[in-house]
Amino acid sequence: MASELTLTVNGAKQVVSSAPETPLLFVLRNELKLTGPRLGCGMAQCGACSVLLDGEEVRSCVTPASYAVGKKVTTIEGLPAIWAAEKKLSDADAARTLHPVQQAWIDEQVPQCGYCQSGMMIAAVELLAKNANPTVAQIKDAFTNKAPSPHLCRCGTYAAIIDAVQRAAQSMKG
Ligand code: FES
Ligand code: FES
Repeated sequence: MASELTLTVNGAKQVVSSAPETPLLFVLRNELKLTGPRLGCGMAQCGACSVLLDGEEVRSCVTPASYAVGKKVTTIEGLPAIWAAEKKLSDADAARTLHPVQQAWIDEQVPQCGYCQSGMMIAAVELLAKNANPTVAQIKDAFTNKAPSPHLCRCGTYAAIIDAVQRAAQSMKG
């Protein structure tokens, strides 16, 4: 049965009407029109739906919306604002600034079909928050060995992702 849930998504309070067990992904995409997180496997096995919950990556396809109550949800759409706040940018500068991870993904031309890339960038942001200067081995480890599953890319962009994470790490130091 639907009930009102108050979520904090990308810095804004949102009241949604959903059954508490509704996957967070569906609430984000269908109610809040945040279409960055994607439905891939729907079983926590690919990472296309990843978002940050209090800074930790979760698979939103298997995360009940009620679990996000009282936590901060960040989707790919919210990454520029996080960076702007961290750098104390003016509103004008913030409006034209991407998160360095997003910019690195563009500079390295990472996406092919793009379907998995929102989740890949979320994983990169989480990694760089914990390790500002990851080695190639640490990047591979973060994308492949962390529960619940590796981040999968059917287009095989893995090498470009490693380059982009390292590029983002450099630019975040500046
Ligand atoms: S859609 Fe959630 S992990 Fe694949
Ligand atoms: S870019 Fe196509 S699935 Fe990753």
